[in-house]
Amino acid sequence: MSLLDNGSSEIINPDTYFQTNTPPRTLGENENRVKEFVNKHNEAGRRIVLITSGGTTVPLENSTVRFIDNFSAGTRGATSAEYFLEMGYAVIFMHRQFSLQPYSRHYSHSKNCFLDFMELKSDGSIGVNSKYAPKMKAVLEKYQEFKKNETLLFLDFVTVADYLFLLRSVTRIMSALKEHAMYYLAAAVSDFFIPAQKMPQHKIQSDGGLTLTMDQVPKFLKPMVTNWVPCGFIVSFKLETDPALLVDKSRHALTRYGHQIVIANLLAIRKREVILITRDSEFQIKLTEDEIAENIEIESRIIPELTKRHDEWIRNADHVDM
Ligand code: PMT
Repeated sequence: MSLLDNGSSEIINPDTYFQTNTPPRTLGENENRVKEFVNKHNEAGRRIVLITSGGTTVPLENSTVRFIDNFSAGTRGATSAEYFLEMGYAVIFMHRQFSLQPYSRHYSHSKNCFLDFMELKSDGSIGVNSKYAPKMKAVLEKYQEFKKNETLLFLDFVTVADYLFLLRSVTRIMSALKEHAMYYLAAAVSDFFIPAQKMPQHKIQSDGGLTLTMDQVPKFLKPMVTNWVPCGFIVSFKLETDPALLVDKSRHALTRYGHQIVIANLLAIRKREVILITRDSEFQIKLTEDEIAENIEIESRIIPELTKRHDEWIRNADHVDM
């Protein structure tokens, strides 16, 4: 397969994108679930955060056999969700189907088979392997707490179109919360796609090479910041592999979209170092060697810092940038 450069591809605006692509079948049902969740937690005086997590796919065929994917296991989003719940937020967890999820992440993508966490007892019953029991107990307690309070709502997506339709719907519903809502965009969203009308209906036959020409997915942060949630506290991520580009590209995103914070991360060290960038500041969060050895998660530092800034954002009635 060879990819041509995309210089000649069409750039459409977000409205055209929504008019020319098909919404997911479950959109209406998910909108109802979100409305109910938002009303309930708003009435309880809880803040709500929308977390997007995992990668989006771009199908190459309408009856899809092959697709292009974006890198993301969902670790950042799933881990962050747990810390937001601990900070008292209700969480809408919008994730790529089968990517990591809060709480189950400790076991689901583990190198161990789930059966390794269990043991057969001498009386024939099954229990948790004592080696894993203390950590599992701690995770279970937190898991049961959110189940009891119903503070976590799961929504899933697969393709970039699923993601964008869902993002627009959820953020429009949440806009009623004004500054009390936070948007934490950790998903890795496709930049290129093939419009349905330009895609073959059936599986591409492998009787030669393949050349793809892709259109650019419009940048959705702009309408989100300007129209969908003008008062929300919006945090986006910027992933780069070249350290020389990271800060400049993150600043560029802030200027271009006009939101509150970009969290800059380099692929290779994203689990131990990030930079929180606002229009006039840079704040590095970096785990020490000791913290890394103790398995401290960097999200346990990121989320309290963000919630502190969200407090300031709410206090700041005229929303002058922090
Ligand atoms: O899940 P893990 O394996 O732990 O990995 C976490 C992560 C590295 C994926 C995460 O920390 C991260 O950096 N996520 C953002 C990666 C990314 O896609 O960056 P980007 O440069 O493509 O997009 C930057 C921002 O622009 C994003 O907030 C995105 O919502 C937005 N965007 C992107 C594409 C698009 N068409 N429109 C957009 O508005």
